[in-house]
Amino acid sequence: MDKSIEESDMTGTAVRLSKISKGYGTSQVLRDIDLGVDAGEFMTLVGPSGCGKSTLLKILAGLDQPDRGLIEIGGEIANQFRPSKRNIAMVFQSYALYPHMRVRDNLAMPLIMANLPFAARMPLIGRLVPGTSARRRQINTTVGEVSKALGIEALLERKPSELSGGQRQRVALGRAMVRQPGVFLMDEPLSNLDAALRTQVRTELVELQRRLKATFVYVTHDQVEAMTMSGRIAVMMDGAIVQVATPAEIYAAPADIRVARFIGSPPINILPADIGHQGEVRLFGEGQALRTNLTPGDNAQIGIRPEDVIVVAQTTLGSAFPHEGSIRLVENLGNEVILHLILVGDRQAEVTARLPQREWAAIRESCSEPSLVRVGLPQQRFLVFGSTGCRAQTEEVQHSRRLGVVS
Ligand SMILES: Nc1ncnc2c1ncn2[C@@H]1O[C@H](COP(=O)(O)OP(=O)(O)OP(=O)(O)O)[C@@H](O)[C@H]1O
Ligand SMILES: [Mg+2]
Repeated sequence: MDKSIEESDMTGTAVRLSKISKGYGTSQVLRDIDLGVDAGEFMTLVGPSGCGKSTLLKILAGLDQPDRGLIEIGGEIANQFRPSKRNIAMVFQSYALYPHMRVRDNLAMPLIMANLPFAARMPLIGRLVPGTSARRRQINTTVGEVSKALGIEALLERKPSELSGGQRQRVALGRAMVRQPGVFLMDEPLSNLDAALRTQVRTELVELQRRLKATFVYVTHDQVEAMTMSGRIAVMMDGAIVQVATPAEIYAAPADIRVARFIGSPPINILPADIGHQGEVRLFGEGQALRTNLTPGDNAQIGIRPEDVIVVAQTTLGSAFPHEGSIRLVENLGNEVILHLILVGDRQAEVTARLPQREWAAIRESCSEPSLVRVGLPQQRFLVFGSTGCRAQTEEVQHSRRLGVVS
């Protein structure tokens, strides 16, 4: 509490979890979790409901104990540290503010509990305890600084019931900030806010994190939050971490088909494929000029993102659009259009395409009520997954050496 919030080096607390496992009764909730978060990094945990995200945060905060594994905070083994000794603050989805206290007192409470002995907290006797007034002044200063940083100075005298959702969220954040923790753990902190406010608080939170250079471990269901806020994303599935990488890498090079399906909206298209004699990928029985390291005969799957699917007017000629697509549904989002297509003849595969509004307008110009379009699935955009779900390595084959076209 001796430095001001703006100039403080809250920074600097790296976190490392090694081989963390946790079970409740017979169900294994976390399996051998290894995760390192650098000092000052914004790490986001995403994954389906029930995969163990909150459990992992609680273990890091000391609110729950792992069955096995090591927790290191700032280079120290912290398994035995009480929550208050871990230099960590946690912000939950529900703000958990004290309803009967003013914002000012809500913000001051963590500091009062940490810095004033029991007797000093008593309204009358407290004044007689040596050093109490100086400490109270210091607490007021910190509360003032934090509320300035969050833009809630005008709200200090109000009760939580007199605040909007976004304002309450900022107070909850402020309460986490006052103790200048080295690590912030946030469990879906924005999910109670409406869409517009969420966007606003999201931006504020990112700015705040950059300014404080604090370490954030952030749990969210919201893909946009994960993609836009994080330095790195850790994708969890069924109690294990499947991939840790930057948002761009997770999107473009998912390690696993579950990651590919989970990240991206609308979701990635998955088409059944198989692997020919020379390791070439075969889609709808036809060999592609794409070789993999998968075993011939493997039941592979091809992933292709909706924006990588090419859609042109039905009258367009060209070998780049060999499939015919019947339009099942058009979702017009204003700037772009999502087309839900069924590929005619090609095992009736369903494909979602996402195209800019002007491309859709051009297709409609060529035919006033298009119900059929031509579709291209460019193989250089294919993500190929083996039957185990892992992504395979692929290599384009020169046209002259094209593999497996006849077989
Ligand atoms: N105290 C507990 N006792 C028994 N089972 C628990 C307990 N806490 C969590 N679980 C179980 O552990 C699993 C993981 O729960 P957790 O809350 O970590 O999931 P989550 O990833 O945070 O999910 P969500 O996205 O829905 O918040 C769930 O199956 C849950 O039912
Ligand atoms: Mg949870």
